[in-house]
This record gives sequence, C-alpha cells and structure tokens, in this order.
Amino acid sequence: MTSVAQNVTTLPQWKELDAHRADIESVHLRELFAADPTRVGAMTATAADLRVDYSKHRITTRTKELLLDLARATGVEGARDRMFAGEHINVTEGRAVLHTALRLPSTAQLTVDGQDVVADVHDVLGAMGDFSDRVRDGRWRGATGEKITTVVNLGIGGSDLGPVMVTRALRHYHDGPHVRFVSNVDPADLTAALHGLNPATTLFIVASKTFSTVETLTNATAARRWIVSALGEGAVAAHFVAVSTHAQRVAEFGIDPDNMFGFWDWVGGRYSVGSAIGLSVMCAIGRERFAELLDGFHRVDAHFRTASLEENIPVLLGLLGVWYTSFLGAHSRAVLPYSNDLVRFPAYLQQLTMESNGKSVRADGAPVGCATGEIFWGEPGTNGQHAFYQLLHQGTHLVPADFIGFAMSTGDLPTVDDSGSMHDVLMANCFAQSKVLAFGRTADQVRSDGTPEELVAHKVMPGNQPSTTILAPKLTPSTLGQLIALYEHQVFVQGVVWGIDSFDQWGVELGKVQATQLQPALSGDGDPATGDASTDALIRIYREMSKG
Ligand code: F6P
Repeated sequence: MTSVAQNVTTLPQWKELDAHRADIESVHLRELFAADPTRVGAMTATAADLRVDYSKHRITTRTKELLLDLARATGVEGARDRMFAGEHINVTEGRAVLHTALRLPSTAQLTVDGQDVVADVHDVLGAMGDFSDRVRDGRWRGATGEKITTVVNLGIGGSDLGPVMVTRALRHYHDGPHVRFVSNVDPADLTAALHGLNPATTLFIVASKTFSTVETLTNATAARRWIVSALGEGAVAAHFVAVSTHAQRVAEFGIDPDNMFGFWDWVGGRYSVGSAIGLSVMCAIGRERFAELLDGFHRVDAHFRTASLEENIPVLLGLLGVWYTSFLGAHSRAVLPYSNDLVRFPAYLQQLTMESNGKSVRADGAPVGCATGEIFWGEPGTNGQHAFYQLLHQGTHLVPADFIGFAMSTGDLPTVDDSGSMHDVLMANCFAQSKVLAFGRTADQVRSDGTPEELVAHKVMPGNQPSTTILAPKLTPSTLGQLIALYEHQVFVQGVVWGIDSFDQWGVELGKVQATQLQPALSGDGDPATGDASTDALIRIYREMSKG
C-alpha cells in the first residue's frame, strides 16, 4: 500500500498518465514497432533465468517513464523495503508480510518482532526434510507396518492451490510416493481421491493455516473415519500429520502436535507454498528439489529488491497491469502457459491476484477511486487456441495476455516426422499467437490472398492485443519458483500503487458465516427464514428435490 494514505487518482503522475492515454489509444502496435527499431531491445529484460519481452504492449518509452513516475510517487520502493524488513504492512490484520523470508538461505539474518525468522524457517524445513525422507525411504510406516505409497493433502485455497499446482508442474521430478489432493467439501472430491487406495499405505496431510476451515476439517474428519474403520482408532497417529499455525486445534482434532509442521501468521495462505504447506510437494520431489524451488523464489526476490525500477520486471509487469486495468479499461489478463504441466498455474494465480487485489477500498478504508484487481484466467496453449483465442483475436475486449514458454522440454519425444520435435511445434504456436495478436492482418493483406470481398471483413485480424512473453530454459523447480515470485511481486506493486492492503481477505468471511447459519435450514422442514425471499425459495426447492 502507499506509504502515505492518498487517493492515487489525485496525484499529478496519475493525471499525466490519464492525459497520455489518448496518445496510446489512437496508435497500433504495428505503428509502434515501425517507429522504433530499438523497441524490442529496450523492452526486453532479465530476472534470474527468465527472459521477458514486453515490447508487444501498448506503451511507448514515455508511457514507461510515466508509469515509473507513478511507482515512485506511490512509494513502491519504500513499501517493498518495508515488506522485506518485516514491518507490519498488512495493516488491517496488524501483521508482517514475510513470505520472502521462507526462501532466505540459512546464512541470512532477519530478526522480526524479536524472532530469529531465518532460524525458525530452517528449523521447520529441517523437520519437513526429515519427515519426507522417512516417508520416501520407507522408515515412516503405516499402522500395519507397511510403507506409505500415497500421500493425500487435505486443504483448500492457499493450502491446496500452491501444492497442487507445483506438484503437477514438477511431475517430471517425482521420485517419492504418489500425491493426491482433496480440497472441495463436495464428497465427490474425497471419494475420487480415495478411489483404489489402501488405508494401510495412505498418509494424510491436513493442511490448514487456521485449522478452522470447514471444508478441510470436514474432509479430514471423513478421512479419519476411513482410516479408523479400516485400521482402528490407534492408526490415526501413523496416518495423519498436520501443517498449521495452530497447535492447539491440531491436538484437539487428534493429531499428535509432534507430527505438526508449523508456520507463522506472517505467511499469507496464497503465499504459503514455500512454507510447510509445501510438505506434500517435498514428499513427491524430495528435500533437495524443494530447496531448488525455494532458491528460484529467492533469486527473483533478490531481483525485485535490488534491480532498478527501469529493469525491474515485477515492477514493470505490475505497472502494465495498472495501465490496462485503471487506464485502458481492460477487465482481465489471460495467462497462457505453453506447458501442459502448468495446467493449474492460471488457477493458482487467480487466488494470488484476485484474493490479494480484488478490493475497492484502500488500506485506510477510503474508496480507491479507480478500477483495481485484474481478473486472471487461462488455459495451457495449445488447448486454449482451440477454445477461446477466437475472442482474443477478433472479439471486442481488450485482453492483455501472458505467454509463458520454455526453450527445452522436460521430456520431449523424439521427432515424429519431418515437422520437427513436438516441443518445437508447441513453441512455434506460442510465438505465432502473440505475433498475430499484436500485428493482426489488414483488409488489404486479406484481399491480396484472393479472398472474396464478402469474406474480407470476417478474415481481418485487428491485432493490437498486447502480450508479455516470458521464456525460461526449462520447467525446473528453480524456474517454477522464479515464475511464482514474479507474479507475487507484481501483485505487491499493484497493491502499493492502488493503496490497498493486498494481504487481507475480509471479503471471503461473510459467505463462510452465512453458509454455517443456513446449513440447518437445508434439512429442516419449517420456514427457512433466511432473511431474503430468493434464498428461502431456493431452500424449499432444494428440500423438495432432495426427496428424490
Ligand atoms: O478463502 C479464504 C482463505 O482464508 C484463504 O486465504 C486461505 O488460503 C484458505 O481460506 C484456507 O485457509 P486455511 O489454510 O486456514 O484452511
């Protein structure tokens, strides 16, 4: 959030950007490229192993200067330094925001509120490493003495999306037990995950920062019943461990606190995959690969902390998000990984960005005064190309897109025919799509193909759809950590510019409370009396229908 409570839209830097908007709205990316042969060189930057081309954005060097002026005026650098130092920048919850400390090397030093944060982090990492080693090499046994073959993570939101996304993304590095994930309170989720599993060889990780989340505790209770009915009450200790900040609730649930892996209130749920919440990932890939993941995060943390604003990729990409959302009227950003293993990356980013910046008041409670909070969505290419890219190419919405690709495949198949490697086919599509989105095809170009006049308008590709292309050598634990940190820090930059607290999530609370209040009415037969006519009527219909 901004260092001083202020309405960002009243700043002279904001007004200058607003005035500059007209220059940009009237110009096409074709013209911007034609006017400046140095554009690509000037608008390509590097963070750790990530090469980022942001030349296909609807900006000029003047736009970039104005956006950086806005970043300076809103105190991005100072706020960033306060976050890294452990100041209580999450003001509505009175907490520090220190997910960056989760990836500090053991030699680093950081004491916050009298706590040696680095020592604490590495103590837990050590405990996680010992535990995951024992599960992986078979020293941790189930109640019947059998080796654990499947780990099931029970969690939701940040206690699920991070681990599930990373585990899926690092499929190629798995050399431990199978790992499955259950998040939804819909019993279909747990039932599907338990299908074919043997209780004697299954270990549950109950992952919940608060250990009070209804979905997770409901699933954990059902899983506990499944273990107890097969192996008896005494089996719980060998088949359940917990990840939480709340030891007392873990003990009340019946899990031995010795089998609890802790973290701290300064780790937000959506920023927690590098904490003990990543235990399921560590079981799958091992402590060394997990350390590489953390090191990847740390390398981009260091870039964000030290690179000049002009070369600082999270700063630049975060500002571009502000530009499109608050000035050019874009409502969403498409995330298009050209890697099937990143299939859950858009869903992961949805929580990261939308739970963080989906807010309309500033940290001091005053209205923000402009559009905030990008809506993230997407699917891996090339699947998305055959689904929603039509709208990107010829629809009426401005949709900035992030293309994410890798130079090397993790497990490419040999050339199948003369068309080259499958990975080259994939990446040719990645490059072609951002090219067509930016430059399109004019009516004259369409006519020159001999297209009948009545079809020309249908075949024109307007272009001018902006995109970033992020390229890394290969999808590895390290580059995955780098990618996640790249987005975390963009979210931070936007929160500072808009002046909002990116680290609370008050908006999700009321729905939880009301679900608990409504639940008895679903199985009752009196007046639902929920307080509104629509909900009363829906509950009556539900009762009728549920009779079958
Ligand atoms: O949806 C709200 C939320 O608090 C998220 O921020 C969090 O990641 C999720 O619920 C799960 O919370 P917990 O880890 O405490 O179960």
